[in-house]
This record gives sequence, structure tokens and C-alpha cells, in this order.
Amino acid sequence: MSRKNQTLGEFIIENQTDFPYASGELSRLINSIRLAAKMVNHEVNKAGLVDITGAAGETNIQGEDQQKLDVFANNTFINSLTNREIVCGIASEENDDFITIKGHKNDHKNKYVVLIDPLDGSSNIDVNVSVGTIFSIYRRSTPVGTPVTIEDFLQPGNLQVAAGYIIYGTSTMLVYTTGHGVNGFTLNPALGTYYLSHPNMRFPENGKIYSVNEGNYVHFPQGIKDYIKYCQEEKEDRPYTSRYIGSLVSDIHRNMIKGGIYIYPGISNYPEGKLRLLYECNPMAFITEQAGGRASDGYQRIMDIKPTELHQRTPFVCGSMNMVEKLESFMK
Ligand code: AHG
Ligand code: MN
Ligand code: MN
Repeated sequence: MSRKNQTLGEFIIENQTDFPYASGELSRLINSIRLAAKMVNHEVNKAGLVDITGAAGETNIQGEDQQKLDVFANNTFINSLTNREIVCGIASEENDDFITIKGHKNDHKNKYVVLIDPLDGSSNIDVNVSVGTIFSIYRRSTPVGTPVTIEDFLQPGNLQVAAGYIIYGTSTMLVYTTGHGVNGFTLNPALGTYYLSHPNMRFPENGKIYSVNEGNYVHFPQGIKDYIKYCQEEKEDRPYTSRYIGSLVSDIHRNMIKGGIYIYPGISNYPEGKLRLLYECNPMAFITEQAGGRASDGYQRIMDIKPTELHQRTPFVCGSMNMVEKLESFMK
């Protein structure tokens, strides 16, 4: 149920009954994400003012330069998630290995693991273009009372209990799902309060936007090349419009509102593409499906992939149902 002027805090409490088994824990977990997001939002907003932009001089496990705000966002989310009796482990795109959280009594009694891309699209910070945070939440698969193991993190996306993203854009929004549709909340920065601005978000079944880094075109599989040519054909409803921000969260957020398809295929040197299954694709796939869209690797549903590594990559296609199905027909 949504109503006018509903805040995120009210919405969380009113929808707690969606989780009979969770007894408020999941709500508190989302609360801690909402708090960390406000802190990161505050830093992102002043990125142009203070000496916080630019590379931090470290390289992450993926071999990419880490930005200072990546480090800040990573620490902020981890601290916020750690200081509560809910999360037993965190895996972050920015950390080589997962973090074990013992809980206050060192009894490993906490039940949830969180996987996070703390700052997505970070190369866009220095040029004042939207960035985001992506999160994914599972119940641990190993017994409560024992330390978390890698198995708790390598669960298929179809076992996610919640996922969401924050977009630090012209306004800051938190969009999330707990498997009962997708809702978007916009931050009123003067009050520090998120309001339900986008209840029950839905991908239009068809769209006219395609989002892909076409600079890699010659390295794409033939099916993807053919689909891109299809998008560009002169027909009744085509050519489609090309829009690519280079910030996954922003590209998918726009496509969800307007209708469109996002494509990050495998490329010849990197057959698995660039995007990470656990931190980026699974959570965005859960949101996409909950909003009536489809997410696949071109052949199979993203959320049915059984992960084998924390930092695993996968080709990724997601968006309006009919557009993704059309692309898949080109891959056969
Ligand atoms: P991150 O900043 O977390 O490393 O992610 C960047 C990702 C994603 O946001 C974006 O869609 C994609 O990289 C863009 O990659 P290209 O520059 O290769 O197009
Ligand atoms: Mn990312
Ligand atoms: Mn990132």
C-alpha cells in the first residue's frame, strides 16, 4: 500500500509483514542502507568542492584505479551494516575477499549476507555525472552460529531476499525490492527524508532506447551486432534512440522509466564482459524482473546462474521484456 507523502521509514514499517520469518530484521537492514546512502550522498554532492575527487592511489582486485569516493562509500556502507545484529558477512566489489561479522556476542548468530557495489560508475564522478550504489541481500545458507563461508555468498540470484540501488543524480533516489514489486523513494535533502515518489515501478513492455558501449562493436558476438543493426533499421517504430551514460545504475534507471534495453556483452578479449554477476547483475536483474522486465546473459536468466567466484563477471542484457526477448532470438 502506498499513500501520499509516505516516507521510506513509514513504508518499511508498514510493509514488514511481507517477511513473516524476518521479524523486522530485514527492515532494520534496509534502514542501515538508507542511512549510509545519506552519508555517501552528502560526500558525492560536495565532490566538486573539496579535495576528495581523483584516484586514491590504490588499485582494486579488478585492476582498476580506486577513486577516493569509492573508498569512502565502501567504508561507510560496511560500517553501517556491521554495527547491527543482522549481517553476518559482506562482500564488496572493492574488497578482495568477503568480511566476516561475528555479531556483538561473537556468536555468529546474524542471518544475512550483503553484497555491494558501493560506488557504481565511479569514473563519472569527476565530470559531475550520476553515480550509484547497488546492493543485494541473501539469507545465509550455512547454519546460524557458525562463521560465514564463501558458500553463503555464492548463491544464485533467485535466492535474493532483497536488492536495490541508490542513484546520486539530479535528485537522490533509493529504489528497492523485497520480491513484492519495486518502489522508488526520493531524498528531500533539506529534511534528510526519503519520500515514496515512484510506487510500483514497471518497465514498459516495449521501449525505444538501447544502451550499449558501441565503441566495442567490432569485438561483440555476431548476435549482438545483428541486434544493434536491428535497433538502427529504418522501420515503423525504429530506429531506436541510443543512450549510454556509462553508469549502470543510471542507464537502467532511465530505461525502467522510459522503456529500453541495456547491453554489456562479452567482448573478444573478455568473453565474460565487464560487469560482476554478484554485485551488479544479480541485484539489477532482481529489480528488473520485479518491475516486469527481463535480465539474461543473452541465453539464460541471470538469476539462475550458479556463481563459482566472488568477483565473477557475466555478459548482461536487461530491460523491457519484448526487447530482451528479441535480442535473445538473435543469439540463437
Ligand atoms: P564501477 O564504477 O563500479 O567499476 O562500474 C562501472 C561499470 C558500470 O557502471 C558501467 O555500466 C560500465 O562499467 C561501463 O563500462 P564501459 O566504460 O566499458 O562502457
Ligand atoms: Mn559498478
Ligand atoms: Mn564500483
